[in-house]
Amino acid sequence: MSEPAAGADFAAPAESAAIRVLEAPENAEAERQEILRGLSARPKRLPCRLFYDERGSRLFERICDLPEYYPTRTEHGLLAERAGEIAALANAGHLVELGSGSATKTRLLVDAFRRLGPPLAYTAIDVSESSLHIAAAALLARYPALDVHGVAATYETGLDALATRATPDERRLVLFLGSTIGNLDPAETSAFLGRVRASLAPGDGFLVGTDLEKDPAVIEAAYNDAQGVTAAFNLNILRHVNRRFRADFALDAFAHVAFYRRELRQIEMHLESQAAQRVTLAALGLEIELAAGERIETEISRKFDLDRFGAELARHGFEVARQWTDAKRWFGLTLARAI
Ligand code: TRP
Repeated sequence: MSEPAAGADFAAPAESAAIRVLEAPENAEAERQEILRGLSARPKRLPCRLFYDERGSRLFERICDLPEYYPTRTEHGLLAERAGEIAALANAGHLVELGSGSATKTRLLVDAFRRLGPPLAYTAIDVSESSLHIAAAALLARYPALDVHGVAATYETGLDALATRATPDERRLVLFLGSTIGNLDPAETSAFLGRVRASLAPGDGFLVGTDLEKDPAVIEAAYNDAQGVTAAFNLNILRHVNRRFRADFALDAFAHVAFYRRELRQIEMHLESQAAQRVTLAALGLEIELAAGERIETEISRKFDLDRFGAELARHGFEVARQWTDAKRWFGLTLARAI
């Protein structure tokens, strides 16, 4: 995310979509507090949203293409196979995508919905404004008639901003792909599902991609790639924090660590301090100390069981319309309906 003036509307380049940057001043203060709290806690942590500055978003696109990183490819294959079925079941006129990134997989759904006929609107919500511009331009190049909007905001702020509908009877389908839901812990997941449900009307759809439990060796390889792109991505969070909060993290004094915790069914990403060191975050008036070997948690990625996930959706006011998985049962798609 770049640093727009509070509440500023970004002037989109010609022929691009309407991209709104929503960064309420309260959010900026909440973010400062979140980082102060996270870096003062034990273990220390940083919010994974901070991965996605412009460089981080680009590195993430490279992760998606890595031979070890099976989720993107597997989900893409599933969508290619099932998009027609999903479109028919969801029967929506407005696709709202959370954490859209490059929106490459989205095209499969846009194609399928357009084949059904009625006009389609697409709104992307992503913290990375640069990703929104790239994704919107790519979609418009392909579908000049598509009504494309982008909202640069957190999911919470973005969903709240979409609460009032231009056409009240239009059915929505919220897309949450890439197993991004796995980056939320159980409490955050519950709050998030409640929030999504509150933004929907009965009959609206919710399509969620979930990475499934499997051999931990396969999962660990996906987050420890041989080329070191994931390590660069993880370390980039420090570069972003240095810029945003005038901090002096030395990137070469940290190492990327990722390991699967079976009991929690999650892979965790950490940055491990390679020596005892002191770091100053001038804009936060914060100075922290790290012991040699101390870790900063940057991300969890939970792995799912489709039945349990369906039950969780049911606890939040959804019914499962259908679930799909690939032949290896590595990745799942769940289409739910708000009830
Ligand atoms: N949603 C992705 C996932 O959980 C995010 C991700 C992929 C990621 N690779 C990463 C996050 C490496 C941090 C580090 O798979």
